Amino acid sequence: KIIVLDYGSQYNQLITRRIREFGIYSELKPHTITAAEVRAIAPKGIIFSGGPNSVYDAGALGVDDEIFQLGIPILGVCYGMQLMAQRLGGKVEPAEDREYGKVDITVTDPQAKLFADLPSEQTVWMSHGDLVHEAPAGFHVTATSANCPIAAMADDDRQFYGIQFHAEVQHTKYGHEILHHFAFDVCGAQANWNMGDFIEQQIEAIRAEVGDKQVLLGLSGGVDSSVVAALLNKAIGSQLTAIFVDHGLLRKNEADQVMDSLGRGLGVKIIKVNAAERFLGDLKGVTDPEQKRKIIGRDFIEVFNAEARKLHGIEYLAQGTLYTDVVESGTDTAQTIKSHHNVGGLPKDLQFKLIEPLNKLFKDEARELGERLGIPHALVWRQPFPGPGLGIRVLGEVTPAKLEIVRDSDAILREEIKNHGLDQDIWQYFTVLPGIRSVGVMGDGRTYDYTIAIRAITSIDGMTADFARIDWEVLQEISSRIVNEVAHVNRVVYDITSKPPATVEWE
Ligand code: XMP
Repeated sequence: KIIVLDYGSQYNQLITRRIREFGIYSELKPHTITAAEVRAIAPKGIIFSGGPNSVYDAGALGVDDEIFQLGIPILGVCYGMQLMAQRLGGKVEPAEDREYGKVDITVTDPQAKLFADLPSEQTVWMSHGDLVHEAPAGFHVTATSANCPIAAMADDDRQFYGIQFHAEVQHTKYGHEILHHFAFDVCGAQANWNMGDFIEQQIEAIRAEVGDKQVLLGLSGGVDSSVVAALLNKAIGSQLTAIFVDHGLLRKNEADQVMDSLGRGLGVKIIKVNAAERFLGDLKGVTDPEQKRKIIGRDFIEVFNAEARKLHGIEYLAQGTLYTDVVESGTDTAQTIKSHHNVGGLPKDLQFKLIEPLNKLFKDEARELGERLGIPHALVWRQPFPGPGLGIRVLGEVTPAKLEIVRDSDAILREEIKNHGLDQDIWQYFTVLPGIRSVGVMGDGRTYDYTIAIRAITSIDGMTADFARIDWEVLQEISSRIVNEVAHVNRVVYDITSKPPATVEWE
């Protein structure tokens, strides 16, 4: 087991899952953990995560210094490295040039354990304002970059390592190898954990928690709630009732597909509620994205409550909240990016106890789980769809007319992506209605109509993403079909930003 101490980086849980991918159990722990608690866990290694603060901030998150005396290997990442440097007698200072994004580093020590067998020039992902100016005694520099003289440092005797960049994100070319070196070569951990163990643990935990009580599940039509449905079905079978709220913000034909695949296919007991009018009514005149998300989340829960009241003896509410949803909605240490549907809308006086069996998992882990549970491949590999649905893809006020434009253009996009065999390569693809109108010409006449934006990204887990390099010819076909077939659209644009700095969804 390797533990990760949480200093609030958006990527911290990503480190734990990278380690889990190696078949080593890993968990995030609060940075306030004491040396005695660490000793009790007896991990093979400790990783200090990154974080948004400076070690010199008032109230900067610290560490129990005795942890350095335990003889356990430590890897400090970004803030974690700076904290380690400061506590062990090095110097941390504000960087002259803030580095953000892809940076080339040079490995200066050919013997460096973390960089063994890797090229000396490599691209990494940096995101920092401070840097380690002077390594503590016992450490030597193992890599540098143009703006960061100590991009990595090592003390092989004590087995302490620091990297200024984020090895856990995909943009760091050899991040996987670097973490692998730490986990296996430095820590000597063994690969003896897998997703099958996770399923068994979860099923046991769910049965222990639920007993003979009834559980209600919110089916959104997405992958996550489908996976929860399958997991609960396996754990507690007929004690599960799913409510599928059709909020009128679903994609074309989606409601029918959900009923077919989960109801008929998996045999889950589903009650379908048609609540489109209520959602659209409550969204009328609302333009602020956070407010829209909160309204949709709230309505969802209220419709739920109303439906649940008709049932008897329900005690639990299960949700498909993923780790990504939790972290981006803000945790004790991470900042709020968006109020995700499954988190922001929950009222304080919720009358159900919550079960969120996926809240430590990332999207692709949830998919792997789904496949192991026997959900059909096509359903598990469906692209992710946000809880608030098309409501956050019509920017600003949501109206039925605008929803129709997004729904129709989205259906065309999906059809074309599938026809060109790209649906497995592109992680998520959809259309957005930014709400701007522009001038065009059709036949001999002037038009003044809407713009549709296409968003298509590649990603592993939704935490970071890159825009998909779709062939021009394919984009051209999609564009002409949308302009020709969808009324009130006269322009199509392609979103070429990665995440960060943009997010996947536009709201
Ligand atoms: P963002 O826009 O946050 O999206 O970069 C990351 C991934 O999460 C999906 N997403 C959501 N999923 N409830 C969900 O269940 C939500 O409120 C929500 N908002 C975004 C998004 O589609 C992408 O896959």
